[in-house]
Amino acid sequence: MGNNCKDIKQLLQKIFEERGFDFRQYKTSMLKRRLARRLTTTGSGTYLDYARRLDTNPEEYKKLFDDLTINVSHFFRNPLTFELLHKVVLPEMIEYKQRSMDNTIRIWSAGCAHGEEPYSIAILLIELLGKNLKNYNITIYATDIDTDALENAKNGKYSDDSVVEVKKGLLDRYFHCDGNYRIKEQVKELVDFSYHDLTSEKSIAPINSVFANFDLILCRNVLIYFSRALQDKVFNKFTKNLNKNGYLVLGEAETRSDDMKNNFVCVDSLNKIYQKR
Ligand SMILES: C[S@@+](CC[C@H](N)C(=O)[O-])C[C@H]1O[C@@H](n2cnc3c(N)ncnc32)[C@H](O)[C@@H]1O
Repeated sequence: MGNNCKDIKQLLQKIFEERGFDFRQYKTSMLKRRLARRLTTTGSGTYLDYARRLDTNPEEYKKLFDDLTINVSHFFRNPLTFELLHKVVLPEMIEYKQRSMDNTIRIWSAGCAHGEEPYSIAILLIELLGKNLKNYNITIYATDIDTDALENAKNGKYSDDSVVEVKKGLLDRYFHCDGNYRIKEQVKELVDFSYHDLTSEKSIAPINSVFANFDLILCRNVLIYFSRALQDKVFNKFTKNLNKNGYLVLGEAETRSDDMKNNFVCVDSLNKIYQKR
C-alpha cells in the first residue's frame, strides 16, 4: 500500500472486515485529512505501515475511530433552529396530534453524539406540553455509532461548555448543578439511546423503535462526512421513516437530495427544516 485512493480503500476494507466500522463511503477528502493525523502520530509512513500498526497495536483502532467520528455538540446548538422548533415545528406537531386524536410523539435524533440534541428536544416538549405531558406517549430515539458517546449520553453529565446556550430558567429547571450539570430524570425518561449505523443496509431505523413512523427526524452535522451517494441513501431512509406531515431537520452543512425536493416542502431554508408532503 502506498498512499493513493486504492490504498485508502484497502485500509477501509480492512477496518470494516476486522472491526465492523464502515467508513468505506465517507468523503475521501475528510478521510485523508483524518488519516494523515493518525499516520503522523503513529509515525507510519504509508497506509500499509498504518495497517500493520493496527495489527500490532489494536488499541489504535479506538484512536482512529475517535478521529473519524467527530462528536462535538452542545445543548441547543444553532439556537435559531431550536427557536423555530420551539415556536413553530413542535407546536404545529402537537396541534396536528390533537386534531388527529393521536397521543404518540415519535422523534429520531440520528447522530446524537453525547445526547445534547435529543435532551434539548425533550426539554422543549416538556416546556410546551406542561401539565399535558402525561397524556402523551413520547419517545425520542437517539442513535449514534460511537458507543462511548452513547454511554456518556445515558449518564447525562455535562461540562460548562455543553450548556453555554441553555437559558438560565431551563438550566435551573432541568439540570442538577453540582460542579457539573446533570440532566434531570424527567428529561432522561423521554430519550431512548441505542446504537444505529446510518450507513447500514440492514436496518433502516433504530432497532428499539420497532417500526419507524417518526413525526420528526433530526440529522445535523453528521452527513457532511458522507459521500453524496451515501447521503442520498440516508435521505431515502428518512423519507421512508417519516409520517406524512413529519419534519426533517438537517444541519447547517447538510444539503438535501434532489429526490427530497419532490417529497418535502421547505419550512425554513436557512435552518434546513422540511416537512414531508
Ligand atoms: C458532530 S456530531 C453531531 C451531533 C449533533 N447531531 C449536533 O449537531 O450537535 C456527529 C455525530 O455523528 C456520528 N456519526 C458518524 N457517522 C455515523 C453513522 N454512520 N451513523 C450514525 N452516527 C454517525 C458521530 O459518532 C458523531 O457523534
